[in-house]
Amino acid sequence: MARKQQHNNHICLILLLGLAAASAGLAQQQQAPAFTTVTMLDIDSPGKTIPQSFMGFSHEWPYVEELYTIPQYMDIIKLLQSFGSGPLVLRVGGGSTDKLTTVPGPEVWGPLSKLHAATGMKYILGLNLFLNDVALARKQMDAAKAGLPASSIISFEIGNEPDYYFNKPSTHWNGTKLVAGWNGTTDYLSCCFHTEWYAMAEALSCRNGPSSCEYGQFTGPVWGHLNLRNTTMDWFLKTNGKTNGKWVEMTSVHWYKATSETFNTPVTLLDEVPIRKEMTNLKEIVRVSEQVYGKPLRVAEMNTISNSGRDGVSNVFAAALWTLDASLEVAAAGGVGVNFHQGAGQNLYAAIIRWYDNGRLALPQLRPPFFGMLLFQMAVRGGSRLMGTQVTHASDANNSKFLKVWALQDVQTGELRWVIINKDASRAASAVLWVNRPSGYASEASVIRMTAAGPNPLSATSGITVAGVSYGLGGAKSGERRIEAAKVSKNAKGGQMLTVQVPAGSAALVRLPLAKEQAALRTPAAGSG
Ligand SMILES: *[C@@H]1O[C@H](CO)[C@@H](O)[C@H](O)[C@H]1NC(C)=O
Ligand SMILES: *[C@@H]1O[C@H](CO)[C@@H](O)[C@H](O)[C@H]1NC(C)=O
Ligand SMILES: *[C@@H]1O[C@H](CO)[C@@H](O)[C@H](O)[C@H]1NC(C)=O
Ligand SMILES: *[C@@H]1O[C@H](CO)[C@@H](O)[C@H](O)[C@H]1NC(C)=O
Repeated sequence: MARKQQHNNHICLILLLGLAAASAGLAQQQQAPAFTTVTMLDIDSPGKTIPQSFMGFSHEWPYVEELYTIPQYMDIIKLLQSFGSGPLVLRVGGGSTDKLTTVPGPEVWGPLSKLHAATGMKYILGLNLFLNDVALARKQMDAAKAGLPASSIISFEIGNEPDYYFNKPSTHWNGTKLVAGWNGTTDYLSCCFHTEWYAMAEALSCRNGPSSCEYGQFTGPVWGHLNLRNTTMDWFLKTNGKTNGKWVEMTSVHWYKATSETFNTPVTLLDEVPIRKEMTNLKEIVRVSEQVYGKPLRVAEMNTISNSGRDGVSNVFAAALWTLDASLEVAAAGGVGVNFHQGAGQNLYAAIIRWYDNGRLALPQLRPPFFGMLLFQMAVRGGSRLMGTQVTHASDANNSKFLKVWALQDVQTGELRWVIINKDASRAASAVLWVNRPSGYASEASVIRMTAAGPNPLSATSGITVAGVSYGLGGAKSGERRIEAAKVSKNAKGGQMLTVQVPAGSAALVRLPLAKEQAALRTPAAGSG
């Protein structure tokens, strides 16, 4: 566990005075730290390991093939994968899933096959449930199986946010019908004893004869919000998972931090209080899904603000900080992954924007959430365990505007990493990080910053950099790569410590390798750091 240290700011500041000059980034900061935090990383209390392929996108059916057909889009995916995370997961679906009345053809499966071959990207594919037309869903599933390599399909998702079906006009859905609908659909999609389907599906999924069923092919309940009750998750899995043939491979819920009302601002987006409540619930439904039924849970669609986002919130630097923090939150709650929704490439919250320039499809534009995804990938790399939960430090007298410290340890190299997120829009912080080991680590840590330019960083739409580098149209890099050094020293408790200044409204990634790996920091490979 990383523990919050109770301390007196004044004493702390005096103690740190000598260190401050040598600490990272001071030269870069105009603003002196307004508060100081101390976080201990307890080497003896490792937590959850973040699984490979944790990061992902969610994209509606329209234009999904462009992830391959626009080469720069694929380059951006490769960049996000270049830190060792394993392939990204692409969930194809959303509102378009239940509007899809046709069966996608080679124009979709061809590019997605090539994208898988080129990047290893794997898919969760939406099938129509809302129309209650199982024949259509079956054709959609069979077309995907015929058109894509089996290795590229993680699972099929049945319907989208069925908890909102009841509100839709002229719907025939209600709770009872939903259970029967899901159950009847999975059965129809999985088994060969439906004689009308056997002939057609023989070559695909009925290899084991007319009485066989294929289990574990589906993701559900694709719930619209992660606030679903533990009893609902239990009901869903009891019906569709455990007792009725284990149709479910994985469970999924969606997470939008807020809605588009005007009271949602860059500051409220980062508000810690609602996040704590929602993560308590996410932990509980992960418990039911994973521990009771053995099914991993993925937050297969998420983003800042539901219904396409909110201008000035979803497309500003606060969204980059939220993306980084929210990914770590889902990992800490036990989710096996996140999929940041792009809509059809034009929503305000999209990390990668598709747009036309003079009537011609232009190179994709990178928006603030991309930078949050990038720093997460740099922090987790080839595999990291969370060292306890995140530590939140209030930065003001009202016990709010938190600075968060996430501690990680690389499962392969033992390197320690901290992700520090200063959500306070006006106060710079001095973060003291210490490890309860007297030696064994390098004498210097490296510090990579994610910052936005200007006096009001949370609302910035441009001037966003990670390690000094910005990414423009089509992922084109600009700016000098900048990595700072932070000296490691002994602390009074027999551990090693370092101090990092974190400007208001910014994030930092601190890397402290084992002593013998120190040289590695000096020779960053392409795509690293
Ligand atoms: C659900 O709808 C069906 C008809 O479509 C009806 O028979 C049933 O009573 C309804 N159940 C509930 C709980 O409203
Ligand atoms: C689900 O389908 C199975 C057959 O595969 C059936 O035995 C069961 O009664 C169904 N459950 C519900 C709740 O519809
Ligand atoms: C749901 O959570 C409550 C506590 O909040 C607990 O008492 C109950 O047993 C849980 N139900 C299930 C199905 O896990
Ligand atoms: C604390 O909250 C009060 C009341 O909402 C507000 O007037 C005050 O400015 C806040 N103080 C800080 C340091 O943010």
